Formats: sequence, structure tokens, C-alpha cells
Amino acid sequence: MPQEEKVEKNAFSTRALHVGEPADPVHGAVEPSLVLSTNFVADPATVGFSAEDLSADSPYFYSRWATPTVHALEEKLASLEGGEDALCFASGMGAIAGLLLGTLRAGDHLVLSDVCYAGLAELARNTLPGFGIEVTTVDFSDLESVAAAVRKNTRLLWAETPANPILRLTDIAAAANIAHAAGAEFVVDSTMATPVATRPLALGADYVVHSLTKYLNGHGDALGGAIIGRRAPLAKLRQGALIHFGGALSPFNAWLIRRGLHTLELRMQAHEKAALHVARFLESHPAIARVIYPGLASHPQHALALRQMQNFSGMLTFQTKAPGGPLAEQLYKKLRVFTYAVSLGKQRSLLWHIPTDAIMESSFHLTGKALESFRAYAGDGVFRVSIGLEAPEDLCRDLDQALES
Ligand SMILES: Cc1ncc(COP(=O)(O)O)c(C=O)c1O
Repeated sequence: MPQEEKVEKNAFSTRALHVGEPADPVHGAVEPSLVLSTNFVADPATVGFSAEDLSADSPYFYSRWATPTVHALEEKLASLEGGEDALCFASGMGAIAGLLLGTLRAGDHLVLSDVCYAGLAELARNTLPGFGIEVTTVDFSDLESVAAAVRKNTRLLWAETPANPILRLTDIAAAANIAHAAGAEFVVDSTMATPVATRPLALGADYVVHSLTKYLNGHGDALGGAIIGRRAPLAKLRQGALIHFGGALSPFNAWLIRRGLHTLELRMQAHEKAALHVARFLESHPAIARVIYPGLASHPQHALALRQMQNFSGMLTFQTKAPGGPLAEQLYKKLRVFTYAVSLGKQRSLLWHIPTDAIMESSFHLTGKALESFRAYAGDGVFRVSIGLEAPEDLCRDLDQALES
């Protein structure tokens, strides 16, 4: 039986270690070699010069097309998300832009979650209309509004769950049904959930997108992005969006991310355990007005979290009784174990204040009902917290001393 078939039947943690990583056939090295070469010896009788000559069994040719090290990561990501194939990019935004611009054409319509990674919100508002792509933003926790936003020319629906930065959830199976009933496809950005928590493809999504920069790498030292889904559309995207847009993942980053994936399941278990501990501590803290964490019974969509998430991840937000702006400055100065910094999903705990007015102005531009729904999760602003792998007792002590006036 070929090695890959044996490995595919194994559990998540075993596949995270073994898929795409056979022993080096040349040297016998047990850990995979990092292949940095930008070009590969090519037989002119079998290899074409154009990306359009690329097929599934093409040999390696030029590293913007594919490399052994990135390919190994793509095999592992496809296995962990339960997809037929995966396509890696230089960053999460590279994957997002590649999927949008590689799939949508002038005259197509995108239904996008009105709360999502701010970079995507800005790309959708500022850039896509310039290509003739129409965009409607909608609250994906309100499925009637999602269905009402769909038009004849809707090609893609796109949600993030949990959504950055307010941790609002989307019912993936229900949203996928709405997309498919309209002849459209459904994309889930699962960066905050990871495949340990949620498998969007098994729930009906057509594509899963990840910022590999976050939990999948897990150590805060490599940017990367990926799209996982069916083989045929990803092969088209490899030509149209990866090779020609040029946002290829560096093999070195792929090598690091592959190593990060070895411990993903263990890390997610630790992130979840510590996040629950810190969330409960903050819920009973006198300086705190509200905590949002999918694993708490107080999360407005806790029932959906229980149904859809096998792990509640390590992201939480809190709102304070005192105004958040001045307190952010205090926390920046006083925190010793937490780092006051953006990003998420790494081994160290991070905290960042997001005032609602500021993010409305810069990124989301929500009004009326949409703004009310945002405020129902975020009030005037949230401290977004990414719980790392430190001892939860140390994290609570650090927050406690930093919150004291
Ligand atoms: C949910 C989500 N998707 C996509 C991205 C973009 O990823 P990257 O920073 O790797 O480009 C981010 C970044 O914070 C994110 O939080």
C-alpha cells in the first residue's frame, strides 16, 4: 500500500505529523529537507514554459509555480481540513485576494460578512468595485439577511467564524445551504477556529481560507496563507491567482509552518483550556463589564459554538467598566506576561484594544442595524486577547495587576 494511503486513514494528530513528510529519499534524513532552489532541472521534451502548460503531474520547474517544501505543506493542509487539495500563498491576505480576484469577474456579486478581518473589509470596499465586482456586506449571524442579500449574479458568499475582532459566529451548514440554493459558492475563513475546532468543508463550505501566520504556524515567526478545497478549481487558481499574481509562499516559511502543524492539536487544547480559565477569571473581575468567549455560556451564540466547534480556540474579548482608551495605555505599560501587540494565535499571549468608533471609520463603515449588531458584541470597544501557552494562573495575575488603577 502506498505510504500516503496508510497515513490518510490515521487520526488528526498522526496526519499533522506524517502527511507530506516521508523520509528523505536521497539522504534518509528523518526530518524533511528545506528546498530553497528557485529553479529545477527540466526536460524540454516534457516541460512547457507557460503556467498554462502546468498539469497535476508536472515536475517541479520554477519556485513560483510549486516547490517540494511548499507542496508538502499543501498536502498536509488538505489532509487536516479534509479537502482534495490546498494552495499556499505568501500571507493570509495573499490567499484572500487570490481567491477573490481569481474567482470573481466584472459583473459578479460577493456577499461578505460585515465583520471580518479589517484588511478584507477594506479590500472589498476600496478595491473590488474598481474591477466591476459588486459587494454587499451583511451580518452572517442573521441568516434571513444573508438570504435576502443574494442576487442572480451572486457568485460567492464569504464569512469568518469566529469573526475577527468580535468573535461572532456563523452557522456554516446553514450559510452553505443558502449559497448553494442560489448557485453560488461559500468561503469560510477559519483562521480563528483552525481545523482542530471546525471543518468547514465537511459542513458544506466550498473553500476554507487560513492565515497560516496565526494558529497553524503558531509561533509568530512566519507569514503565510492557504486556500483548501476541491482539486479542479484550485488547479485553476494556481495558474490564475498564484503564478500570475506572484504571491508565492517562501519555502522557508512553509518549512516552519509545517513544523508548527506538528503540535497544532496539542496547542489548541492548551489555548482552549487557558482561555476558558482567563475568561472565567475576567467575568468575575470588578474592572470588567463583559467577556465574550465562545466557550462561555454567556456568549450570545454558545449553543452554535457547542454544535459547530470541537474546540473553543484561544481568542476572547473583554470590555471594561472604565473607558477603554486610557486603560489601553495603562495595560500597554503595566502588562508583563501579555504583550501589547496585534496578531493572534501564537505561543505568547497578546492583547490589543479596538475602539468601535475607530474601526467603523477605518474599516467597517457600519450603520443602523449592522452597527447595533456589532455593538451588541463589542460595545464602545473591546480588548481582543489571544491566549498563548503560558500558565493561565500567571496570565490572570498579570491582568489583575495591570487592571489595578
Ligand atoms: C481572520 C483573518 N484572516 C486573514 C488575515 C490576514 O492574514 P495575514 O496577516 O497572514 O495576511 C488575518 C490577519 O489578522 C485574520 O485575522
